[in-house]
Amino acid sequence: MRRKLVVANRKMNGSIPDNRAFMAGVVQGMRELRKIDCAICVPHPYLYQAQVLLADTPVAWGGQNMSRHEFGPYTGSVAPGMLVEFGCKYVIIGHSERRERGYESDDAAGERFEMALKAGLTPIFCVGETLSEFEAGMTDSVAIRQLNAVVDHVGVRGLAKGVLAYEPIWAIGTGKSATPEHAQTILAFLRGHVALLDETAAERLRILYGGSVKADNAAELFAMPDIDGGLIGSASLVTEEFLTICRVADAA
Ligand code: 13P
Repeated sequence: MRRKLVVANRKMNGSIPDNRAFMAGVVQGMRELRKIDCAICVPHPYLYQAQVLLADTPVAWGGQNMSRHEFGPYTGSVAPGMLVEFGCKYVIIGHSERRERGYESDDAAGERFEMALKAGLTPIFCVGETLSEFEAGMTDSVAIRQLNAVVDHVGVRGLAKGVLAYEPIWAIGTGKSATPEHAQTILAFLRGHVALLDETAAERLRILYGGSVKADNAAELFAMPDIDGGLIGSASLVTEEFLTICRVADAA
């Protein structure tokens, strides 16, 4: 039985006072929940604040991206070891908002995944298709191409040390979530693909759904057998809404 995971991807939002209120609220709410894991991924400048406020609580924290280099002349980049120094457990890799406009290729995302594992971080690896790819029936092939880039770098066992997130780009920030049936079909397909390589890894791998998960659709999404939790964007900007999603996951 895989433990559900709910991750707040706060994207480029927040401020010191706003983060303080959000993190305190999530910690308090999570103290009542026993069956799920929860994490908050913040912009890099707020990692120290997350470390101070979330250490020794049931809530983990992480970064939203990292460099594929250990150190060096990469102005504006953040090294994996720096995330570790600030106590991160997780790092989001390959989010579509980073892949778009060619900022990140499949191979670069695979390399980042490998570097994250080497640093001792748990990568949350995002895959997902654009609207036109969805309409062209390319959902499966896009997700498999993105996933195989990770397998090429770390093998299937390495992949299973991370978390996979299916986030269809057409559902991100649009208020138009994938239907639970669509999300379940794709997640089962991805798990099946991993199972062809290694059944144990497939059984262990946590796969999240992301894309307009809200308090009012979380229950039907989390009821699906292959959906092991959510990667939550806009709904993580409102403490009570995010906590409702956590409670729903805990009850699922
Ligand atoms: P929304 O929940 O705002 O659709 O964002 C999803 C997302 O991109 C999480 O990484």
